[in-house]
Parts: sequence; structure tokens; C-alpha cells
Amino acid sequence: MQTQIDEIADGVYRLSTCVREAAPGGFTFNQFLINGDDPLLFHTGPRAMFPLVSQAVARIIPRERIRWITFGHVESDECGSMNEFLAVAPRAEVAHGALGCMVSLDDLCDRPPRKLADGEVIDLGGKRIRHIDTPHVPHNWEARVLFEETTKTLLCGDLFTHTGDGPALTDGDIVGPAVAAEEFFHATALTVVTAATIRRLATLQPQVLAPMHGSSTRTRCSDALLELADAYELMVKRRERSE
Ligand SMILES: [Fe+2]
Ligand SMILES: [Fe+2]
Repeated sequence: MQTQIDEIADGVYRLSTCVREAAPGGFTFNQFLINGDDPLLFHTGPRAMFPLVSQAVARIIPRERIRWITFGHVESDECGSMNEFLAVAPRAEVAHGALGCMVSLDDLCDRPPRKLADGEVIDLGGKRIRHIDTPHVPHNWEARVLFEETTKTLLCGDLFTHTGDGPALTDGDIVGPAVAAEEFFHATALTVVTAATIRRLATLQPQVLAPMHGSSTRTRCSDALLELADAYELMVKRRERSE
């Protein structure tokens, strides 16, 4: 396995490792390094991937410069090696929504995490990261996304998850592949709030969508969010009808 690095927006690096056996056609695990004066890592990868991911980070910046360790929600692919990163980056802190800290991270992190309020911004020096709570979207109570305001990049985590080892950036449709992956994995908590939460993200008018699994895009980002919300709403209605 190797980790591919691509700069998908100014100072926003996508670190991508494809695991061939994880899904038909392969499945990518992506981390994003936002390079400001205080660099931020979004997702750490699982512990087994720490050597690959940390070496990839070191090709961009010295690992000890990492200031913030962040992720969408508490699962091993999102944050399995957060303590390994805390160990190699002495100034680093985990930052997450207050709920995630209370439920899991106050206990799991080797150093106390920084608790963020919904909408709170961390100034990275040259980049600005807004924390947005999205409880249960796409899954987990403590779920959230990050919005980098200067490049308008939505770090959308498991939203738009799709299989395959596609390009770092695609102009193609990512909604159809995300719907197909949902029908395969059933990973999303499909509830009455799912569509409304995703539609709220569209109002940010992102210029870049950066999913954790699959290709990023700079094309029709708000429309893609609205179409994903519509697709999930339909799935919820279908499920209600079949009950
Ligand atoms: Fe997840
Ligand atoms: Fe994930």
C-alpha cells in the first residue's frame, strides 16, 4: 500500500491510501492536512496505517508542527492513531465538539481535548476552520464536519463515501456512486433529520467537497449536497412505506 498526496485546494492536502480488499474496486482512506501557521490534520487513519499516514504528513511538513488533530466522529479509521500523533507532535491537541469530548474523547485522548462550540472557528494563521455539529449525520451522535473558510472546502467526512480508487479530484458525479455505496454498506443513519442537516451544509456554498472515502470535487458542490439530501430523503420515505 502507498499513500498518495495531492493538493486539492490552496494549502489543503489530500493523503489517500487505497485498501484493495476493503470493497469491490478498492476503498480509499483519506486524511486532509490544512497547512496554516498552525497545521491541522483531519482524520488520522487507523492505528495500523499510522506509519504510512505519518510518513505522508512528513513529506509535506515536519510532523511535530501539527497543532490540531481533528476528525468527523469517533471510529478507528477517523481517529485510531490520534494518540500516536499526539506523541510525535508535542504542541498538538485533539479538537472536537463538546459532546464528543464528553462522551468519548475526554477519556480516550492521552492529552485533554479542546472542546468546540457549534460554529466555533479555529484560526490556523492563513486558514480558518469552522466546526459544525451534525449529530447522527452521516452517523454517530458526536458527528461533525469542518469548513475551511478561505478555500471554502467542506471536509465532509463519511458523507459522499464511494468505493474505487478514483482521482484525487473528479469533475464527474459523486452522488450516484455515494448512493450505490450506501446501498452496499448501509452506513448512514437514515432519519428524519438527515436530509435537513445536509441541506444546511449546502447553504455554506462550498467550492470543494473533500470526502474521507473517494474522490474530492470542485464541481457543483452545493448541488451535490442537495441531491444527496434528496436521495436520503427518498430512502427514508421508502423505508417508512415498507414498515
Ligand atoms: Fe464513519
Ligand atoms: Fe470513515
